[in-house]
Amino acid sequence: MTIDKKFIDLLVNVSSKGAISASNFIGKKDKISADQAAVSAMRNELNKLNINGKVVIGEGELDKAPMLYIGEKVGSGNGTSIDIAVDPLEGTNFVANNMPGGLSVISIAEKGNLFSAPETYMDKIAYGKNVPNDAIDLDFPIEKNIKNLAEVKNTNIEQLTICILDRPRHKDIINKLRMLNVNLKLITDGDVSGALLVTDDKYKVDLFLGIGGGPEGVLAACALDAFDCKFQGRFIFESEKDISRAKKMGITDLKKKYILSEIVKGDSIFCATGITKGDLVNGVILNDKKYLTETLVTHKHSALTKIIVKEDIIKP
Ligand code: FBP
Repeated sequence: MTIDKKFIDLLVNVSSKGAISASNFIGKKDKISADQAAVSAMRNELNKLNINGKVVIGEGELDKAPMLYIGEKVGSGNGTSIDIAVDPLEGTNFVANNMPGGLSVISIAEKGNLFSAPETYMDKIAYGKNVPNDAIDLDFPIEKNIKNLAEVKNTNIEQLTICILDRPRHKDIINKLRMLNVNLKLITDGDVSGALLVTDDKYKVDLFLGIGGGPEGVLAACALDAFDCKFQGRFIFESEKDISRAKKMGITDLKKKYILSEIVKGDSIFCATGITKGDLVNGVILNDKKYLTETLVTHKHSALTKIIVKEDIIKP
């Protein structure tokens, strides 16, 4: 089964509305209000759709019952049954501080085909479509991955660029990368976008790796799949609370390394609308009485990967 193309425009509308709402808080130093605005706009639009939707990646879990919690049903309850992953505001710091890279993100797959991820960290690695599967592995030492990558790309190690979140937890790995003399692209936040930089040579990123949010990993995997790129991830369950949540969600092997096809199966659609201008898309532009948004859209089945520009008239 495939997901009907009509969902592309419908979902572009959902993430655009999320982005527009969050854009009212650009530079307001208020992460919470920005996030809430994006969440409620997205939820409002999702509930207008004739779908039997279930949030599998969302804003938290039922015990806290936020909007768009994991397990929440959205849509009319009729129509196509789909699993939905959302990150209504990816990069809360970016929006609060008026910095590049804020996105509003959604992806869908057929019911049962999208991994329901708990809100924990995930160790991730993403690389481009022309790199053979066996060249890179989350479990290889970093030196081996870099050496193999240079070999398959027929280049020198010093020419490679590696994207990673700039965090103290990555100190060792960043030191090793410096010793190898690769080029680093250190990002302060936003690892959905970071992972997607391997999708096109124009971004000049050869490998994305490191520990970031698990939900962000699942969202990035959806888009990477449509680009035929590769992704591996392993959730990190450290606290008793994380472990018991994971078990409740049906995860039995807590140390399992997931490959892309175990995270998202079959057809999927991914939409990421820019809130502030970033590497992938422009931010929301308010022009006269119109909002202009740019959304990176992928649809696995039709091998669609493109940027859709949308105009929204402000209602009087
Ligand atoms: P928020 O938008 O929820 O603030 O997430 C931003 C982000 O940078 C993600 O892209 C990334 O996966 C995660 O935070 C990393 O978490 P941490 O800031 O704890 O290292």
